[in-house]
Amino acid sequence: MTVLVRARNLVKEFPRRGAKRGELPFRAVDDVSFDLRKGSTLAIVGESGSGKSTTGRCALRLIEPTSGEVHFDGVNLMDLSPEEMRRRRRQMQIVFQDTYASLDPRWSVGRLLAEPLQLHENLSKGEVKQRVGDMLVRVGLEAQHADRYPHEFSGGQRQRIGIARALMLNPQLVVCDEPVSALDVSVQAQVLNLMKDLQEELGLSYIFISHDISVVEFIGDDIIVMNKGKVVEQGDCREVLRNPQDPYTRALLAAVPIPDPRQVSDREERRRIIAAGLRGQHAS
Ligand SMILES: Nc1ncnc2c1ncn2[C@@H]1O[C@H](COP(=O)(O)OP(=O)(O)OP(=O)(O)O)[C@@H](O)[C@H]1O
Ligand SMILES: [Mg+2]
Repeated sequence: MTVLVRARNLVKEFPRRGAKRGELPFRAVDDVSFDLRKGSTLAIVGESGSGKSTTGRCALRLIEPTSGEVHFDGVNLMDLSPEEMRRRRRQMQIVFQDTYASLDPRWSVGRLLAEPLQLHENLSKGEVKQRVGDMLVRVGLEAQHADRYPHEFSGGQRQRIGIARALMLNPQLVVCDEPVSALDVSVQAQVLNLMKDLQEELGLSYIFISHDISVVEFIGDDIIVMNKGKVVEQGDCREVLRNPQDPYTRALLAAVPIPDPRQVSDREERRRIIAAGLRGQHAS
């Protein structure tokens, strides 16, 4: 088992607003440790405000942890200079829930996808166009879509564009922060299937943040359950969801109906069941 991301004792504190002197800062992430295996998906679940996004951002050093370490491919990110970090960051990307905020509406899809290449690689115009077209096809869109603008696409298509943009530099790690939460349930399954296929084809590792247990059950290999900044339970995803030990995990599970794919070994069959579950239907 090769570990891509090894996070140890991550802490992130924010100053409290209007704090009185001597008042302790607020701990959004409190001593979080995890390993992300290469080519696998680590799901982070928990209620709103439990510290999922902050953990994901600390793992990429998009925000600076107060303390703790993140080793990426054996390198302690905390030791890197800003320039070294900038070069590393191309290997780690993030996909957000809100594509209206993450995709500039004034930019064509082609320009949105070309930007990471232009910042990090020295390619001719023709090569950039080719890479953009190839990536659009890869995520289930068409090369000609490069000339259109984000608002001309559906929510699911826009998330495909967000994913395409994240993959332009062939990253190893993608932090997916509630990537399907804004989508209709029927579209969620399509985008999740795409993400699984891309993971397999490209050997991607995901940190997948979600509050939706049925989504996590589909996509997760390992899981950490967070409550108030702390990890309350972690382990094999299906194992934890099947047999939760912590009362908080049980409460989370009780609030969400879960499709039951565990009896089914065949992958396509399992997908079909989950897809039906995500649509709120029963798979026959
Ligand atoms: N920049 C910040 N300054 C102050 N407090 C912050 C900041 N960012 C996050 N927090 C606080 O830290 C806590 C954890 O936030 P975070 O966004 O990580 O939660 P989350 O689990 O991702 O929630 P959600 O499911 O709503 O996205 C929250 O109480 C939040 O208000
Ligand atoms: Mg969040």
